Amino acid sequence: MGCLWMFWVFFCFAAAPVLSVPPVGLQPEQVHVSYTGVPQSMIITWTTFNKTESWVEYGVWGGKLFQLTAQGSCTLFKDGGDEGRKLYMHRVTLTHLKPGTAYVYHCGSNDGWSDILFFTAIKEGSEWSPKFALFGDLGNDNPQSLARLQKETQLGMYDVILHIGDFAYDMDEDNARIGDEFMRQIQSIAAYVPYMTSPGNHENAYNFSNYRNRFSMPGDTESLWYSWNIGPAHIISFSTEVYFYLEYGLDLIFKQYSWLEKDLEEANKPENRRVRPWIITMAHRPMYCSNDDKDDCTKFESYVRVGRNDTMPVAPGLEKLFYDYGVDLELWAHEHTYERLWPVYGFQVFNGSMEHPYVNPRAPVHIITGSAGCREKHDGFIPAPRDWSAFRSTDYGYTRMQILNSTHLYLEQVSDDQNGRVIDIMWLVKEQHGTAAWK
Ligand SMILES: *[C@@H]1O[C@H](CO)[C@@H](O)[C@H](O)[C@H]1NC(C)=O
Ligand SMILES: *[C@@H]1O[C@H](CO)[C@@H](O)[C@H](O)[C@H]1NC(C)=O
Ligand SMILES: *[C@@H]1O[C@H](CO)[C@@H](O)[C@H](O)[C@H]1NC(C)=O
Ligand SMILES: *[C@@H]1O[C@H](CO)[C@@H](O)[C@H](O)[C@H]1NC(C)=O
Ligand SMILES: *[C@@H]1O[C@H](CO)[C@@H](O)[C@H](O)[C@H]1NC(C)=O
Ligand SMILES: [Fe+2]
Repeated sequence: MGCLWMFWVFFCFAAAPVLSVPPVGLQPEQVHVSYTGVPQSMIITWTTFNKTESWVEYGVWGGKLFQLTAQGSCTLFKDGGDEGRKLYMHRVTLTHLKPGTAYVYHCGSNDGWSDILFFTAIKEGSEWSPKFALFGDLGNDNPQSLARLQKETQLGMYDVILHIGDFAYDMDEDNARIGDEFMRQIQSIAAYVPYMTSPGNHENAYNFSNYRNRFSMPGDTESLWYSWNIGPAHIISFSTEVYFYLEYGLDLIFKQYSWLEKDLEEANKPENRRVRPWIITMAHRPMYCSNDDKDDCTKFESYVRVGRNDTMPVAPGLEKLFYDYGVDLELWAHEHTYERLWPVYGFQVFNGSMEHPYVNPRAPVHIITGSAGCREKHDGFIPAPRDWSAFRSTDYGYTRMQILNSTHLYLEQVSDDQNGRVIDIMWLVKEQHGTAAWK
């Protein structure tokens, strides 16, 4: 056999050398899953370097492999770097999934298939308690939290991952090879649970093209701003970066603002808020922070909080909008630290009570969690924060959150520096949601 095989290989090389070249460009890689926002569906995204067809073969866990198939589409992403590298981005939407059921899948085409992977379809309705891992600022180099997140995700500890901006450092670098490397790195998480994202400043190159092309979030804004429902929550992701990169269009601030207003209006309709009482926002740059860097949240007024008055027309900020629609919780990153705030509006603390500040708080609660680990290491804090700052840590780490039901939300901070120790806990309890809660 060995001889024959050797002979065959030799023959192959000699007669048809082209066939012996590994078809790496046809091989699917960088596989990740995201939720479409439409119940019973999920979208699988991956990359090839040659144009191929886009198929997902899948089936219920424990059943016959690959009984179901779905075809999607492939778009060419030409990187903005000087090599103008060509990446083929494949997207396949799976529909009619059974809620809460685990599926086994692989993706690719008859030119090459991925490893066998699995995910669980999002449960239906609002009567369950989704679990999240959330963080921002995770890099290709020094990704401190990655190992623990890989294990916990594969163990099934999370229904969803939220990555609140700043990927890879930076996805466009080395002609987007850093983006490729990062997407390969996170496949160990993102191919198993929906990986939901927001854009950060590190994605700004070529008008956020790596971000817009690599992710597949709900809606039609190329993943820039969107919302979706899970369990008892309505989750809104948006771009703080529209306030900072005006060269890509001042109009984006206004487009996003009016979309946010419309989305919040809809989510606040009594019939909707009754079913999904929690409104949670996620976006990269915080309105508040007490870091000692040059960002606009400590020493300057935050554009995201109050808007910009140096633009024509003046651009509205978001703190009042979110307050006026009774947003419960605002998740941020960008600062490479963790900070929990007392309920706050306009710099004023609105504790529920002195003893139980998070029981029926009278303003939104902010969490800043951008310490997942990247080449820029930690950020520092100013020594004496203002009175809205409740807890701070410079440890690397990430946040776990579970929305238990319509009244109780649990959040904890994991420290990677302390081997996974939980260093902070918050129970947010709201017997009432919406602006009525502020009274
Ligand atoms: C893959 O793409 C490269 C670059 O465009 C091309 O040279 C090569 O022939 C392609 N390979 C296959 C198998 O299509
Ligand atoms: C940047 O991208 C956004 C989203 O696709 C688009 O609306 C905007 O017009 C682009 N800006 C420029 C300057 O091309
Ligand atoms: C413009 O906004 C800045 C904060 O960003 C503020 O300090 C300043 O007073 C504002 N100017 C006017 C004329 O409102
Ligand atoms: C809010 O509650 C915390 C915890 O009890 C307390 O330390 C802080 O002083 C309170 N702030 C205000 C303004 O009441
Ligand atoms: C929500 O969960 C908490 C914690 O388990 C429980 O104490 C509370 O009674 C529940 N509330 C509702 C409305 O089910
Ligand atoms: Fe950032």
